[in-house]
Amino acid sequence: MFRLMIVSFMVVNCECKILNPVILVPGDGGSQIEAKLNKSTANPWCDLHTKGYYNLWVNQEELFFLTVDCFTDNMRLVYDQHKHVTRNSPGVETRIPGWGHTKTVEWLDPERVTDVYTNKPNQGVTFQICSRTFLVGQLKDASGIKGGRFLDMHSDHLTFHPLKAPNEFADFFKNFKALIEETYTLNNNTKVVLLGHSMGNPTTLYFLNHQPQAWKDKFIQSFISLAGVWGGSVKSLILLATVRQQQRSMPSTAWLMPSDKFWGKDEILVERPGRNYTVHDFKQLFTDMNLIDGWHIRKDTANLIRSLTPPGVEVHCIHGHDVQTPQTPEKLVFKGHMWNDKQLNVKMGDGDGTVNIRSLKGCLHWQGKQPQKIYHLPIEGADHMEILGNKDVIAYL
Ligand SMILES: *[C@@H]1O[C@H](CO)[C@@H](O)[C@H](O)[C@H]1NC(C)=O
Ligand SMILES: *[C@@H]1O[C@H](CO)[C@@H](O)[C@H](O)[C@H]1NC(C)=O
Ligand SMILES: *[C@@H]1O[C@H](CO)[C@@H](O)[C@H](O)[C@H]1NC(C)=O
Repeated sequence: MFRLMIVSFMVVNCECKILNPVILVPGDGGSQIEAKLNKSTANPWCDLHTKGYYNLWVNQEELFFLTVDCFTDNMRLVYDQHKHVTRNSPGVETRIPGWGHTKTVEWLDPERVTDVYTNKPNQGVTFQICSRTFLVGQLKDASGIKGGRFLDMHSDHLTFHPLKAPNEFADFFKNFKALIEETYTLNNNTKVVLLGHSMGNPTTLYFLNHQPQAWKDKFIQSFISLAGVWGGSVKSLILLATVRQQQRSMPSTAWLMPSDKFWGKDEILVERPGRNYTVHDFKQLFTDMNLIDGWHIRKDTANLIRSLTPPGVEVHCIHGHDVQTPQTPEKLVFKGHMWNDKQLNVKMGDGDGTVNIRSLKGCLHWQGKQPQKIYHLPIEGADHMEILGNKDVIAYL
């Protein structure tokens, strides 16, 4: 889930010492979302109406105890099977704040916002997102631009819903393209670096796959991918199978299910009494979980980057491996017939704690398939989120 973040801090291009503007494409959960409520039904302890917008994703107060139900109901998406689109839960309007500066991606919870230069969170920051702040801070320092130079963009047109997938991002991509061109021009016709994290990477790939080569040659310097989810992740199946309603209605979760290009027909991903599921049994899996909308959403999203068409720009593919605490989910074994985490045993394997190693290495499929170079930097022990603050990554950038 993400919102795209455009920032004009710079990285050094080693060949010619030119500084390139960078555009950040955050991953799942990497941005804030605000909501305004005018609902007709809700649990008695949840608000039905709000005067204006409040912080919905992620609001620590709402994640607390009972109100987690309110959060779940306000965050969930409703699928329209005929139009193949998702909408907000009835009575909920959402918007994404803070376009054009990094604060909303540096700190997910506005209560915790602080100056990145002092690196002093006011209160205990519990979200791992603080490591993202580190990355942004380091890049700003490396650029020598104090305070950064942020583009002042019109936020409403440059956001996408953090729980959806690229098949619903047409407007966003149009504006993203214009933004890249504008960033290029504002920076004295200097090519732009796209820096993605997690799901921001397949989103960027989808975008690049839909641009003419001449456009990419003109505007894009390189695509730096941190912890890219190229072939999905078994962890997404845990979100589906255990009861977390807002995840179950999420196109982004359906999109990030394991790809049949990466998992074979003999590999069991989900095991339960009387039934095993491979990557070819997702229809059955959704049926057995009583999530028919989920299957339609899966069909809408499964082919978005399935063919792994090369991006046609220079790629720096950076990811962790052999992360031990925790290891990466590889197979789900349910002891009983209930879909819940009490009956679930997870078999762990290699990866960055969230994404399986084979998916992280998906960018290597492009080696020899495009004239532009593919650089690969695997980092032992670099966790999916911690990679944002990893010193080897900062040094490499
Ligand atoms: C809230 O919803 C009701 C019923 O749909 C509608 O009549 C009312 O105008 C809405 N209020 C606001 C402030 O949008
Ligand atoms: C823009 O580029 C031109 C030509 O390379 C150069 O002479 C000029 O100083 C640059 N301007 C800025 C503001 O960097
Ligand atoms: C599911 O797979 C396990 C091995 O992983 C096997 O022991 C079991 O018999 C299989 N169950 C079914 C119903 O095929």
